Amino acid sequence: MRTDRCGDLRLTDEGRSVSLCGWVSRRREHGEHLAFIDLRDRSGIVQVVVDGAQDLRAEYVLQIKGEVRQRPDETTNTSIKTGEIEVQAQEVIVLSEAEPPPFPLDERTEIDEVLRLRHRYVDLRRERMQKNLTIRSKVNSAIRQAMEEQGFVEVETPMLIASTPEGARDFVVPSRKEPGSFYALPQSPQIFKQLCMVGGVDRYYQIARCLRDEDLRADRQFEFMQLDAEASFVTQEDVLAFISYAVLSATEAITGERPSEIPRMSWQEAQERFGSDKPDIRFGLELVELTDIFTSTEFRAFEAPCIKGIRVPKGSDISRNRLDDLTEKCKQWGAKGLVWMKVENGELNSPVSKFLSEEEKSALKETLLVEDGDLLLLVADERDMVRHVLGLLRLEIGRPPVTEGGLSFLWVVDFPLFEGVDEEGNPQPAHHPFTMPHEEDIDKLEKGDLLGVRSQAYDLVLNGWELGSGSVRIHKREIQEMIFQVLGIESEEAQEKFGFLLDAFRYGAPPHAGFAFGMDRLTAILAGEENIREVIAYPKTQSGADPLTSAPNPIDDKHLNELGLRVLPPKQ
Ligand code: AMO
Ligand code: AMP
Repeated sequence: MRTDRCGDLRLTDEGRSVSLCGWVSRRREHGEHLAFIDLRDRSGIVQVVVDGAQDLRAEYVLQIKGEVRQRPDETTNTSIKTGEIEVQAQEVIVLSEAEPPPFPLDERTEIDEVLRLRHRYVDLRRERMQKNLTIRSKVNSAIRQAMEEQGFVEVETPMLIASTPEGARDFVVPSRKEPGSFYALPQSPQIFKQLCMVGGVDRYYQIARCLRDEDLRADRQFEFMQLDAEASFVTQEDVLAFISYAVLSATEAITGERPSEIPRMSWQEAQERFGSDKPDIRFGLELVELTDIFTSTEFRAFEAPCIKGIRVPKGSDISRNRLDDLTEKCKQWGAKGLVWMKVENGELNSPVSKFLSEEEKSALKETLLVEDGDLLLLVADERDMVRHVLGLLRLEIGRPPVTEGGLSFLWVVDFPLFEGVDEEGNPQPAHHPFTMPHEEDIDKLEKGDLLGVRSQAYDLVLNGWELGSGSVRIHKREIQEMIFQVLGIESEEAQEKFGFLLDAFRYGAPPHAGFAFGMDRLTAILAGEENIREVIAYPKTQSGADPLTSAPNPIDDKHLNELGLRVLPPKQ
């Protein structure tokens, strides 16, 4: 139906007869006999000159046949790519009429998200969404190509499965054939990809849909896509290399520039310096160790196992209100308080200065390399708490928006095998229960020094977002059983839940390792979006609803009966 796309026409097309199809973006009258229409399709907008008498309203779908001509000099529009030309319409065909759109489609107006999602088909016409969907498609394609180049084979794994242990709640699907029984939807293809390794697939990948019933946030949806990968006869080094190759290729496909090699940091160092296992290293404001300065302090608040501080260069003009607000935030995050100091004329000015000795003050100045005009922020507490609170405070005061500060990828390696314990006193796996302990730390495992055991697990971080996680897996039944035991998973339960995996290990399991990263997260950051919803065609709202189809919705009694289900009255 068309010879060209609207946004592609240039001065070099002058004189050509063209046929264009698109939506009426805007209409301006020019007397009775002339109107200017901005015709829009995926590629952009072009100005069309039509007979002013025709009834062509916003979002009508048109086919225009006409001739490209140069615009008179004074009407050239440098803000759009087609601004030097216009199309003189010879024939206008209305392909569809349209009701007035539910919201304006220009990029300047901020529109309520529920309204956008209810009419997503209109929202998708906007330039931002077209751009984001195109980026997404390019990222997918670059990742596929990078994995194929490295000898990976795409294998599709099932959606109706038994539960997988990624730590979130399962979405479940009732079985009609076996009323009272349920399938779980996969939180990830984890177990199937490991079984693929036992099956000799050697190098598996999949752009996989995963489902997790968890609270939604800017970087979380119920449904999301992973680049999921697993390989046999490889080490951690190999995995880092092939995943780096894939994400750097995807980045290059979007930005045109290949970032340099991805740096690495141990989990321990990330916690000490950035108070996080996913440090945003686009900016400084690092956590500085100050504990030794205060070992015999008279200041009660600093009689604590750990003290760290952040130096904010040129931060001393901060308002009292903002300081109170930051103190309140730190308390919400779990701290007992926040000490602030302003560096003025070589002095540390603070409400708590009088409680600190001269030695303590000069040691502070020396350790933090202070300069006049700096602001210092200190927290004292248990080490974990200090890192947690200052890590969040650092982001609160320094984190640049997604579109600034470039792309800072980081590998975080040597994660602990366990992070804390649950209510029943069972240690919790930091990654998942199939992760191989660090070889050097196996004796700690046997001696029960659980929190000291490092694992062969690694995360990929981008601008402070956890992009992905992976590990070298346990491929020996005995070690796997030992880990289940440590985790408090009884052997009966282990057999029931993961028996098929343990059984598979009897039949010749190769050493294997793998990784998965969130495609939505990578795409959002590459598209300069703060929320993954902006790079998903049909996302759910924060509350998990789909305003377009109004899912989730009740089902009728007949259907419930067939599934052997009865719905309880809503909880009071
Ligand atoms: P993990 O649970 O860390 O690891 O998930 C890997 C990556 O998937 C993305 N992700 C999400 N993205 C959007 N919405 C969500 N709700 C969501 N949950 C996770 C994140 C995350 O880093 N099977 C293991 C990987 C492995 O060991 O190979 C796994 O799924 O970017
Ligand atoms: P207080 O002695 O509790 O009145 O606290 C004096 C100052 O120290 C206040 O500004 C508190 O916010 C701060 N503060 C108290 N406890 C801590 C702590 N553990 N770490 C950092 N600052 C603290």
